[in-house]
Amino acid sequence: MPQDFYRIKRLPPYLFAEVNALKAAARARGEDIIDFGMGNPDLPTPQHIIDKMVEAVADPKTHRYSQSRGIPGLRKALAAYYARRFNVELDPETEAIVTIGSKEGLANLAQAISAPGDVILSPNPSYPIHPYGFMIAGATIRHMPIGPEYDYMRELERGVQHSVPKPIAVIVNFPSNPTAQVVDLDFYGEIVDFARSRGIYILSDLAYSEIYFDEDKPPPSILQVPGAKDVAVEFTSMSKTYSMPGWRIGFAAGNPELIGALTRVKSYLDYGAFTPIQVAATAALNGPQECVAEARAIYKARRDVLVESFGRAGWDIPPPPATMFAWAKVPEPWHDKGSMAFSKELLQEAGVAVSPGIGFGEHGEGHVRIALVENEHRIRQAARNLKKFLAQKEPTSAEPAEAL
Ligand SMILES: Cc1ncc(COP(=O)(O)O)c(C=O)c1O
Repeated sequence: MPQDFYRIKRLPPYLFAEVNALKAAARARGEDIIDFGMGNPDLPTPQHIIDKMVEAVADPKTHRYSQSRGIPGLRKALAAYYARRFNVELDPETEAIVTIGSKEGLANLAQAISAPGDVILSPNPSYPIHPYGFMIAGATIRHMPIGPEYDYMRELERGVQHSVPKPIAVIVNFPSNPTAQVVDLDFYGEIVDFARSRGIYILSDLAYSEIYFDEDKPPPSILQVPGAKDVAVEFTSMSKTYSMPGWRIGFAAGNPELIGALTRVKSYLDYGAFTPIQVAATAALNGPQECVAEARAIYKARRDVLVESFGRAGWDIPPPPATMFAWAKVPEPWHDKGSMAFSKELLQEAGVAVSPGIGFGEHGEGHVRIALVENEHRIRQAARNLKKFLAQKEPTSAEPAEAL
């Protein structure tokens, strides 16, 4: 029997699986693991959203197949959000679609627009669906290193210049998972100008639009750039904004050709998210927004406790300006051993789980991602464990951190 499946061959083993297996084994032994590994929001979904879901589910009409591209009321609610938050006008008929989480939207857009061999520019390090959604679709990925040490526009130009055939699209994700990097509207303006002049689509992932810590600088949407809709589509998500990760609701908005392509593919693949979930999502977007500010304040408080307590324990964590992640260099004794070795030791010896940077791509090596999904008390406990752990460790090498 053939087992050498074309697509499966292109998917490397999931790098986080190693740490996850150790985590599961420690828990099976009854150990308490303080888990900063997965970006899985721990806050409960606000009550008014749950109430709306319960009300809708009691109506048998909602039990039928829903609409693949989303119920009209929810697409209108997304357009209203873009209007009030970004001053961007969207036609809910042609420029907006509901997805079963933004991850599903990204993966199915990849299926919709790429043929084998088409080149896509994807950030590295990145959230895995960015490159792998396209790899599964048979496209070729050119990884673009991102981070403070790289000039983004130079890397973008280089990526286009040295790719044959010319890339069909570039993926951008700010605020970034995993690095938490944020950008301003001028930055998006440059990318849009570049993409329009070269005939390249932009796929923007704005999953962390509402998780930011500088009240004066909410992350912009790329669709705010005049003319962006000629080339750009943007994904947003209910998962982090309204603490609804398990509900599986997200959106794509922007360029009508890309939205049309995604709509067409999805019309063959699914009947849309369960209607009561879409009704509740509509209530979330149209209803009171205090819950969004509250979630933001909780993540900010956790961030501050993390930075302060881990810093006192001997590990400097740069405060992330947005997202629910801190992105930190592995402490000095592990510079040579790398992020995977550090993550494993930290888990086994301190009972603290983080995600090794290498799992987000080769340019993530030397870092780990710490998700703010444990409460302040548990973060402080982790800092105490960390302090003991670091105190036991002698640097294993006198070499400088060149390997990073
Ligand atoms: C950057 C980014 N995009 C997309 C997603 C997936 O979001 P959703 O739950 O809407 O599929 C995540 C989830 O962690 C993410 O970090």
